[in-house]
Amino acid sequence: MRFSKLQALAAAASWAMTAAAASILEPRGVEQVKELGKKLSANAKIYWPGSPEFEKATTRWSALAAPKVNVVVVPATEKDVSVTVSFANNISVPFLAFNGVHGSITTLGKMQGGIEIWMNQLSSVKVSADGKTATIGGGTMSKKVTDDLWAAGKQTVTGTCECVSLMGPALGGGHGWLQGHHGLVSDQFLSMNVVLADGSLKTIDSKSDLWWGMKGAGHNFGIVTSVTTKVYDIQHSDWAIETLIFKGDKVEAVYKAANEYLLKNGTQPVDVINWSYWLNNPDVDADKPVIIFYIIQEGVKSVDPVYTKPFHDIGPAVIQPASGTYKDLAAWTGIALDSPPCQNVGNANPRFPIYLDTYNVASQKKIYDIFAAATKQGSDFANSLFMFEGYSEQGVQAIPDQASAFAFRGDNLLAAPLIIYQPAGAELDKKAKALGDQLRSVLQQGSGRTELHTYVNYAYGSETKQQWYGSAKWRQDKLSALKKKYDPKGRFSFYAPVA
Ligand SMILES: Cc1cc2nc3c(=O)[nH]c(=O)nc-3n(C[C@H](O)[C@H](O)[C@H](O)COP(=O)(O)OP(=O)(O)OC[C@H]3O[C@@H](n4cnc5c(N)ncnc54)[C@H](O)[C@@H]3O)c2cc1C
Ligand SMILES: *[C@@H]1O[C@H](CO)[C@@H](O)[C@H](O)[C@H]1NC(C)=O
Ligand SMILES: *[C@@H]1O[C@H](CO)[C@@H](O)[C@H](O)[C@H]1NC(C)=O
Ligand SMILES: *[C@@H]1O[C@H](CO)[C@@H](O)[C@H](O)[C@H]1NC(C)=O
Repeated sequence: MRFSKLQALAAAASWAMTAAAASILEPRGVEQVKELGKKLSANAKIYWPGSPEFEKATTRWSALAAPKVNVVVVPATEKDVSVTVSFANNISVPFLAFNGVHGSITTLGKMQGGIEIWMNQLSSVKVSADGKTATIGGGTMSKKVTDDLWAAGKQTVTGTCECVSLMGPALGGGHGWLQGHHGLVSDQFLSMNVVLADGSLKTIDSKSDLWWGMKGAGHNFGIVTSVTTKVYDIQHSDWAIETLIFKGDKVEAVYKAANEYLLKNGTQPVDVINWSYWLNNPDVDADKPVIIFYIIQEGVKSVDPVYTKPFHDIGPAVIQPASGTYKDLAAWTGIALDSPPCQNVGNANPRFPIYLDTYNVASQKKIYDIFAAATKQGSDFANSLFMFEGYSEQGVQAIPDQASAFAFRGDNLLAAPLIIYQPAGAELDKKAKALGDQLRSVLQQGSGRTELHTYVNYAYGSETKQQWYGSAKWRQDKLSALKKKYDPKGRFSFYAPVA
């Protein structure tokens, strides 16, 4: 069975495949995959279309330009991943790692058929005897990492959202609550086991030329089957948040205050994190999106009024304080396992990210007005949200710019409209993209920058390599050289390909 054959078969099959396996893969392909089954370890699994397991393993967070697969292999050992890649290569069929399934970049849509390698059995967290490192399976979710480490009195940098994997964010750098202390998720890594394009399973660390590329452009080079990462004693068990909800007429005052009292020109305190979302909340405002502003502080039972008073003075419609531990942060900010963004309900979820230094108050007003008009109740995009993430940056910026393929250590803020809608064809997709592009370009103009910096893990998919990985020539040259050396046939080129 050749790829083109698989491709044709995939195109003929609908996304929710219900037909029997034999009608989707020609008999020889089915036989070959069954042969693969014999080479895998005892607990590995193969799921065929039409089964509830296949359905579960292939349903993704974003339905826009989602990758299509014909069969799911679920490795039970690191070696199973290696065997599966080598098998796929032998029969010239594409393959793609599926993990937390929140990857939404539209380049994934180029996968029109092939083998899904579902990482979810490679889920484990083992703290070392000296308590300084942990070895984590390549399919472990962020929440498990946080919970298991917490039980051992430890923590490390993970993504903030409970339903993404540890590796998904890390391959593109990885932002998280503790980055102000320690740097990005991938900055914590000490070594990793990775299956390369030729199917070989290698252990690499900072001595390998590939190390640099794995930390920021890692989707391009291999499948990480496990990683050893630094862990830290829990410094502060207490965390507090104040959630402030403003009506839209306060947009300028809110972001002026955010610049002055929170961002402080990129010197905001390491223990403070601020995020805001814009979304429709008819309980507070029946007509227009509200501004939900979170001020989060570590090591306290309530957020220091130094940070909150300037915002109280603006006149929020709602003030909601809460206190707890690090483990409550995801639920407070609406990204816990049971929160809406963790449900895979068939929506298209494109984002249009841009890194910024500071809020341009006039631009905030402009994009608020555009966003409000485009997301009116009852309209196609009414469930959309606009995210502004102001993590603390000290730990990220303490690491030299040239240290990894992640190129944007200098930026303080990550803004992104997330245009949420039910798929209804190419016209609506185009409309959503036009809206996202427009919002992003207003922010870029207001920043005074000619270059667009984006977070590859939020990227739409239409951006350039320079916009994902930095425009410095040495960065692009280095990425191309690594690609040529480690993946000359472009087997890992579905997610934001460097070449
Ligand atoms: C609700 C939500 C919250 C988010 N929060 C954060 C956050 O706090 N911080 C942050 O940095 N980002 C965050 N993101 C963005 C996130 O980094 C990306 O969406 C990421 O791709 C998700 O990884 P995943 O495992 O869930 O997705 P998947 O779709 O399973 O994986 C994405 C891609 O990564 C590759 N991949 C996955 N696992 C492996 C592996 N083991 N080895 C090699 N390649 C692999 C594959 O190419 C795959 O296509 C968030 C996204 C969403 C939707
Ligand atoms: C792939 O082909 C090589 C060379 O023929 C063979 O040695 C190897 O066992 C095959 N691997 C799988 C998993 O089929
Ligand atoms: C919000 O975060 C940004 C980016 O880290 C920071 O510059 C700003 O000072 C913070 N604002 C508040 C109120 O914490
Ligand atoms: C912010 O920092 C820049 C660069 O260090 C400096 O030139 C500028 O004056 C600062 N602005 C404020 C408001 O402190």
